[in-house]
Amino acid sequence: MRRPSSGLTLVVLLLSVLDLTSAVKHGDFKTCAQSGFCRRNRALAEEATAAGPAWTSPYELETESVKLDQGVLTGTIWKTVAEKDGGRVELPLQISFLDDGVARVTIDEAKRQKGEIKLRGDSKARKERYKEAEKWVLVGGKNIFANAKLESRDQESRVSYGFGDFQVVLQHKPFKLTFLRNGEPHIVLNERNFMNIEHWRPKREQEGEEGEDESTWWDETFGGNTDSKPRGPESLAMDITFPGYEFVYGIPEHASSLALKETRGGEGNYEDPYRLYNSDVFEYEVNSPMTLYGSIPFMQAQKAGSTIGVFWLNAAETWVDIVKSQKNPKALSTEKRSTHTHWMSESGVLDVFILPGPNSAHLYSQYGALTGYTALPPEFSIAYHQCRWNYISQDDVKDVDRKFDKFDIPYDVIWLDIEYTDNKKYFTWDPLTFSDPISMQNQLAERERKLVAIIDPHIRNEGSYPVSKEMNEKGLATKDKSGEKSYEGWCWPGSSHWIDAFNPAAVAWWKNLFDIKKFPSATKNLHIWNDMNEPSVFNGPETTMPKDNIHHGNWEHRDVHNLNGMTFHNATYEGMVARLGKGNEKRPFVLTRSFFAGSQRTAAMWTGDNQADWSHLSQAFPMILSQGIAGMPFAGADVGGFFGNPSKELFARWYQAGAFYPFFRGHAHIDSKRREPYLYEEPYRSIVRDAIRLRYSLLPIWYSAFQRASFEGMPIIRPHFVMFPDDEAGFAIDDQFFVGDSGLLAKPVVKEGAESVDIYIPDDEPYYNYFDQTVYKGKGYKKIPAPLDTVPLLMRGGHIFPRKDRHRRSSGLMKHDPYTLVVNLNNNGVAGGVLYVDDGETFDNQKGAYVHRSFMFNRKALICGNLHLEPSKAEAYEKTMEDVRVEKVLLVGVGDEWLDKKTAKVTLGEKNWEVEVSVTKGRRGKANVAVVRDPKAPITQDWQIEF
Ligand code: GLC
Repeated sequence: MRRPSSGLTLVVLLLSVLDLTSAVKHGDFKTCAQSGFCRRNRALAEEATAAGPAWTSPYELETESVKLDQGVLTGTIWKTVAEKDGGRVELPLQISFLDDGVARVTIDEAKRQKGEIKLRGDSKARKERYKEAEKWVLVGGKNIFANAKLESRDQESRVSYGFGDFQVVLQHKPFKLTFLRNGEPHIVLNERNFMNIEHWRPKREQEGEEGEDESTWWDETFGGNTDSKPRGPESLAMDITFPGYEFVYGIPEHASSLALKETRGGEGNYEDPYRLYNSDVFEYEVNSPMTLYGSIPFMQAQKAGSTIGVFWLNAAETWVDIVKSQKNPKALSTEKRSTHTHWMSESGVLDVFILPGPNSAHLYSQYGALTGYTALPPEFSIAYHQCRWNYISQDDVKDVDRKFDKFDIPYDVIWLDIEYTDNKKYFTWDPLTFSDPISMQNQLAERERKLVAIIDPHIRNEGSYPVSKEMNEKGLATKDKSGEKSYEGWCWPGSSHWIDAFNPAAVAWWKNLFDIKKFPSATKNLHIWNDMNEPSVFNGPETTMPKDNIHHGNWEHRDVHNLNGMTFHNATYEGMVARLGKGNEKRPFVLTRSFFAGSQRTAAMWTGDNQADWSHLSQAFPMILSQGIAGMPFAGADVGGFFGNPSKELFARWYQAGAFYPFFRGHAHIDSKRREPYLYEEPYRSIVRDAIRLRYSLLPIWYSAFQRASFEGMPIIRPHFVMFPDDEAGFAIDDQFFVGDSGLLAKPVVKEGAESVDIYIPDDEPYYNYFDQTVYKGKGYKKIPAPLDTVPLLMRGGHIFPRKDRHRRSSGLMKHDPYTLVVNLNNNGVAGGVLYVDDGETFDNQKGAYVHRSFMFNRKALICGNLHLEPSKAEAYEKTMEDVRVEKVLLVGVGDEWLDKKTAKVTLGEKNWEVEVSVTKGRRGKANVAVVRDPKAPITQDWQIEF
């Protein structure tokens, strides 16, 4: 290696010293080159690329086999292999055409379907390729579009399907699939011939078929652990091209940008593919394709005016390479590049969904129809949470609770980390420090506050601990590779076993532990945090379970690894729903660290163990935005940073940012200094209090956004490309975003010492500063002042949002508080918005007990209408809310002709009355603002205010 010049050497040295203070241990986690199947598939891709047209793909779809029956196409793909291996391998293909124009492609291996293979050693593992991921992931969207038509079947086959103009062209030799929308190709499978289904073969005594590297076929050793691989090599891979799409997003979780980067080297690119293998990555680093705690194999491609997506339903270790085609230097500058992706999974069937878009809203509802929408959370859980590892005793908890009140800082939830238990035995309390958990919960309940306690999936290996005893006696733990013995490993409690939540009997047993009559000292205000469910195993390979461990149904851990965390938090959720008995169900709050596609139905997530530094603060938004577009928007990051001690400035900025995380929780490592917000000196304490208060006053917007997410899958915070899909200039933006449908555009400061930020204004509407109504107008970047006490926040003209302006101690105490409506006029002087309200805690909303209003301002009048789908079902609930009114209306951006307006008329049914209006002239770039004082307009009824 060439030595860098001496100046550079110093910088490099300095950087590496800085790095050492808090750096992920790269050596603990595999690179692609260290993961046998990733290396093999990448090598194949390189060979195919190098050979160019001379490359022959061994996959051919047999023309005569192609049949289409009732919306399902079937056929046989033959893979040509060496004569001594039988010459060819049969791979059944199925393409199902579903509602919404979704197509599902599955490829299996016939020999394994029939169980005609031999496992090595005395493995009890299943012989088939795993295809039960759908059992955990899919909840709908599978209705077949029976009218799909086989238009032709010759050199290629062509099927048209769906209510839109959708077609798929199947090239038979080599096998290739092109998906068309309106005659244009949008997604191509196997365009580059990287398709690879590693077929089963017996291990030969004589190794080394010519040219093939068998070193990782039969076993694989990493970090001192050997994976026995009883089925030998079995990976599957496919290249997926998005022609003309320069941007792709999704496949969380990675500490990386929202717009995915190229992964085959080059300036600014990664060297390794994005990895999806749920892991407890200690001190993870930013800007990295390394795997993290959860994974969602959903990818969205975006070009001006068009969206398309794929969902790769596979729960095994997966890697995704991304490259973009180079621009032809001679071509016109408008020529678009294409994105080429390469998906590689270690085992299972190939199962990929093609989601047609054509815009984000459609795409998210297509994906949500399949995997479910985010649960509408209990309302307290979208307010502020106070956590640390650890509040050390019930007195500590009670003291923190009182101090928040003393300093007038609202909060809803206080959390207990692992130390509350008796020796890390979940469902117990430390008898000395938490001798009376009920009185502690009762104190919290006085202000409608809740407690969240941690419960992890590792069960302390101690004979006298009833949970451990029962689990092992009933055989409900995950087994080691013998398939008979409970797997034993190390986690917080020391020697532990892991509940196997793939087993329905284990789920039933687990659920029962949450029964309010069984869970010692639990009250209905106790909610749950599931951590370490990747699962994290301190002495396991890559800090997790061996891949040859055996789960219920004799599936290897390898096949289901990425589902593991979800099966566990689902079980917790079910237990929490059932714990109060039939008819008394309340919406539980469950936080999980590990997740998979579908997790959104039962849990919120956070980004795990980040660090108290600026780079992690700025990394959080891209990560949270990625979660949002991948169907799991209830996401947050540890505010303040988990490891280390934030500077005061960082702390203040982090709260301003955190107030815009869908999940807003302060958390800290056990070794960090105490940092409850009231401990800070002024002005920091007030800055943090203001940030938390801002969140509380905007809760109506957040809750309304969650309601929409729970129905249609729209993210809670929305990146530019979702809101302005024609404006490519903003497609890479991931540090500013809109909140729900409110028109609020936020760009919290994530840089040290910043005095201002440059916000990208995407269109020609007026944008009003939230705090002083300064008007920003004209597409492009605008400098917004951002002194330490300010979070840059604009209101887009054209939107109306509800807000609550009275400061209370918790969200529960705000239930009956009146609303302020903020009406932000657009260029045409009009605006619209929504409000969703329900009891925030039961499931009665599903029976119609909610208020859903629309607000329209049409230059002359503000009109409140009903969006409820079945108004009669809302009556009983409305009665409980009839005293809740709009107490103030702010009209921002009214014209000068409003300046002498003094009154307006409110009409409600037969009645009408006059209200006072005062208008302030905006000076020095500020908008005129009209204020309507107390129109006494109830949120449960239709009314209008005429001006
Ligand atoms: C893990 C969690 C962290 C928690 C700690 C102790 O590191 O990510 O949030 O505080 O475990 O339970």
